[in-house]
Amino acid sequence: MNCLRHFNTPQLELIHQGKVRDSFRINDDSRMIVVTDRVSCFDKVLKSTIPYKGAVLNGISNFWFEKTKDIVGNHMINIVDPNINLVKEAHPIRIEMIVRGYLTGSMWRKYQKGKREFSGVKAADGLKKNQRFPEPILTPTTKEESDREITPEDIVKEGWTSDKLYSKMIDISLKLFDLGSKILGEKGIILVDTKYEFGLIDDKLILIDEIHTPDSSRFWSKEDYDKNPEKAEQIDKEFVRQWLLNNKFDGKIPDELPDDIIKETSKRYLEIYKIITGNEFIKTGNIKNRIYNNLVEKNIIKDGYVSIIMGSPKDIEHCKKIESYLLNYDIFIEKRIVSAHKNGERIPEIAEVYNNSIETGCVIAVAGRSNGLGGALAANLAIPVINCPPFKDRTDMMVNINSSLIMPSKTPAMTVIDVSSAALAALRSLNIRRLKDVFIKEIEDIKESLIKADEEIRNN
Ligand SMILES: Nc1ncnc2c1ncn2[C@@H]1O[C@H](COP(=O)(O)OP(=O)(O)OP(=O)(O)O)[C@@H](O)[C@H]1O
Ligand SMILES: [Mg+2]
Repeated sequence: MNCLRHFNTPQLELIHQGKVRDSFRINDDSRMIVVTDRVSCFDKVLKSTIPYKGAVLNGISNFWFEKTKDIVGNHMINIVDPNINLVKEAHPIRIEMIVRGYLTGSMWRKYQKGKREFSGVKAADGLKKNQRFPEPILTPTTKEESDREITPEDIVKEGWTSDKLYSKMIDISLKLFDLGSKILGEKGIILVDTKYEFGLIDDKLILIDEIHTPDSSRFWSKEDYDKNPEKAEQIDKEFVRQWLLNNKFDGKIPDELPDDIIKETSKRYLEIYKIITGNEFIKTGNIKNRIYNNLVEKNIIKDGYVSIIMGSPKDIEHCKKIESYLLNYDIFIEKRIVSAHKNGERIPEIAEVYNNSIETGCVIAVAGRSNGLGGALAANLAIPVINCPPFKDRTDMMVNINSSLIMPSKTPAMTVIDVSSAALAALRSLNIRRLKDVFIKEIEDIKESLIKADEEIRNN
């Protein structure tokens, strides 16, 4: 299916992987947040992905960032791709500002068991499931290993933020909730509850993370609620939840959805997008190709990479020679040290990134004496592997070359001895149109220079 489960590239450092989003370091001042098509239910990520879910969620969040920017500034720099935002790096205030308009979800479950105080807010006796509060309430939690309810006094006392800033956060959260409720109300949707996250940039408070998305909020259809308040269900995820509950296997909730349920869920997300933003969701072609094109066009990644993996730090000089031939081609170059014999357990970790990388790549394996590296890489990587073993002298080469040349079946490591040729072989294996044009020109130049040399020698 045309989905994004994980975003991988060796070019950017993965700084955080949440249930749904992957965040990457761009520089000290910015990060890139990729909203994938993963879906989590009952706090678990399912194996199935939902087409368009990531772009829908990001589109909805972007809609709200724009609508609320007069209430509070936010972290947005620009939308790189429907699934990806570039955002300003903030110092996050590790408090989730949860605003609730109705008594439901985890709060209802605790209320039913007799609990009456939530993060310092007292709930009256005799409330019913899904009952509306006279005014929205704030039940903040800390963002820790496991989230914890916390009172406003303790937020200040424990040093999560200052009294002054927390007062501002309350004021802004309630204003955001009010605006969200109004706008959604006009579209027949109830904003039941949601959470906001704030951060500081140069002491200025801004809104970070995401806002009013189906992943950070609960939405009910007003029509359903008016019919029977206690039966109101979350309009996005409830469908998936119900299916999982109705299809337990051996008493366990499944971790995969059948195709028709995936399709229906996707359709529902597209509908929510249209209702909230008022715009039809525009479907584009292959998601990974689109992301690749957008990231390259916006100079966030290079269009391809060559990774030089050496078996030992002693091979560094040889690797630098190869690198010198790669430098002129404006690709990303990575150098790694991994010994197949001594820490081969790192190879699957590398394979995870390279095999799933959004851009095209190639590996040059540098290991001379009994080269186990090239074979181990070629057997695990879905991208080309070229051996370029370093040899001290001809004798060393004659003794050791077979360990590069002779590979087991289905272990397609190629061997190129000359460093400039190994670099070129790697670049050509990337099959990038931009580079092909460069190579055509280089080949023509060589021909021309030979003809010139020939003419010169004949005329002398
Ligand atoms: N502009 C920003 N600057 C710094 N940190 C940010 C910014 N925007 C979001 N974050 C942080 O990035 C992280 C995003 O995490 P994400 O929501 O993907 O996963 P999670 O919160 O760890 O888990 P879950 O999947 O349960 O939500 C959060 O810790 C959030 O506070
Ligand atoms: Mg989160």
